[in-house]
Amino acid sequence: MEKTYLMVKPDGVQRGLIGRIVSRFEDKGFKLVAAKLITVSEDQAKRHYAEHAGKDFFAELVSFITSGPVFAMVWEGDDVVALSRMLIGKTKVGEASPGTIRGDFASHTPLNLIHGSDSPESAEREIANFFTPDELNLYNKEIAVWM
Ligand code: TYD
Ligand code: MG
Repeated sequence: MEKTYLMVKPDGVQRGLIGRIVSRFEDKGFKLVAAKLITVSEDQAKRHYAEHAGKDFFAELVSFITSGPVFAMVWEGDDVVALSRMLIGKTKVGEASPGTIRGDFASHTPLNLIHGSDSPESAEREIANFFTPDELNLYNKEIAVWM
């Protein structure tokens, strides 16, 4: 099953939007595979945004993503990479349509609330940058004794 890496960025966490953002993906019917509140290290940030190294906004991007806690997630579903990008909306907030997460909640680039992988290959690389294989295996554990 296809997986994607989604991350509520520091602006989304600080504005108290984790719940509403997560709800959009739950409402769509995708499966939450893993999630945690973390601080992104400088090395992780540079790996995550490696495709943008050298661009004029790179330093600002790394400093922003490491500036406070993010909510890192892995989601699973048919075509989850492309469909998540549709739910997220366009990168520049002025171009993000109403009805998308960025269109409804973001008002200033690069504070655009959420990251979503742009291909299944990117997703695999990004998931490995933030999660251990063990953390991705939650549904395969033995049924807990309290059930
Ligand atoms: P990008 O991967 O192009 O966008 P997306 O997040 O939609 O996959 O860019 C990564 C982030 O860099 C983007 O969310 C916001 C920031 N950014 C800028 O600040 N200015 C820019 O011109 C671009 C293209 C991105
Ligand atoms: Mg991107």
